[in-house]
Amino acid sequence: MNMRGHEWMSEATAGAITAERFLRRHWQQKALFVRSALTEIGQCFEPAMLIELATRDDVESRLVRRERTRWSVEHGPFPRRRLERLPARGWSLLVQGADLHLPAARTLMDRFDFIPYARQDDVMLSLAPPGGGVGAHFDSYDVFLVQAYGRRRWRIGRQRDLTLKSGAPLRILKSFRPEHEYAVEPGDVLYLPARYAHEGVATTQCITCSVGLRAPTRQEITTSFLQWLPDKIALAGRYRDREKTLSKHPAQIASAMLREIEAVLAAVRWSRATVEQFAGEYLTEPKAHVWFRAPVRIVSFMRFSAHARSRGIRLAAATRMLFHGDRLFVNGEFLSMPAAARAALIALADERAALPWRNRSAPAARQLYQWYRAGYVELA
Ligand code: SIN
Ligand code: CO
Repeated sequence: MNMRGHEWMSEATAGAITAERFLRRHWQQKALFVRSALTEIGQCFEPAMLIELATRDDVESRLVRRERTRWSVEHGPFPRRRLERLPARGWSLLVQGADLHLPAARTLMDRFDFIPYARQDDVMLSLAPPGGGVGAHFDSYDVFLVQAYGRRRWRIGRQRDLTLKSGAPLRILKSFRPEHEYAVEPGDVLYLPARYAHEGVATTQCITCSVGLRAPTRQEITTSFLQWLPDKIALAGRYRDREKTLSKHPAQIASAMLREIEAVLAAVRWSRATVEQFAGEYLTEPKAHVWFRAPVRIVSFMRFSAHARSRGIRLAAATRMLFHGDRLFVNGEFLSMPAAARAALIALADERAALPWRNRSAPAARQLYQWYRAGYVELA
């Protein structure tokens, strides 16, 4: 099994730090800047790619504009002509989920595979002309800001006062007190823990990749759990009055009735297995604007199996596959792994590909074929 994170930055890079050290010293604690950490990224992205993505209706995009102190935000998709005629200054085009559409963005995300997939969110790309940016703000989750094209100046600060400007259509800090400044070039990486104030201003036309980490709020986790729970619990019995006293007010909800209802709710229990199933389904649930396309020409099960054995299979870019114990979760669905295929399925989830698929389990092969037909898995 290969060790995660050993390739996340070249050891020849001055200031490079191992993934272990990064996790110990910086992760969720302290900002980190490494110059020329991912230099190969410099040739992978260009403005036309963002323009193309921002015209698509299956891609989430935004155009942020600034006129003096006034900010505005528009949501895509945008007509191509509009994007090609943007002014020379004062805007930034943001494209969410680039890892689903650009292999280079997926490869970039994979550089961070020492962070569990369940914590990875997406790669956002931003394009800005000189002077462009989205203002001073903080994010609620950790982010790796990877400079992909052109130059930008980042200013960052760990300020306590995170009050936002009121009335602005995007999150802008009321007062920004930067402590450090970095003039970044393609390949430079800046890691910021959640709630770190920052502002990036393009110094030439530039593209920045934000590798975003996922950290749902407690409210989001709980709301999702409570919405998911009803199908999973079966409670016996029915409401009954325990105290039979004559009431002066037939319209009153008696305290005894409230106590009984409270007791019914307090008796709701869930097991570790229920939590496990919820967590797996929740964490692999595709995002709202993601949909899977079945292959244009579906091959037969026989041909699928032969291809998988000779050349292999891989997960579709949007597929989320995670596991815990013997349970495998794929795009919000769950499966108990057949013992004979467990190791192979875990390897598929970790590597996102099996080149070739050597496992002989017939139930696993049938399951993979179903996922292939659903567009979750592709022939390599
Ligand atoms: C940008 O790329 O302009 C914004 C990224 C961020 O600040 O999170
Ligand atoms: Co930010």
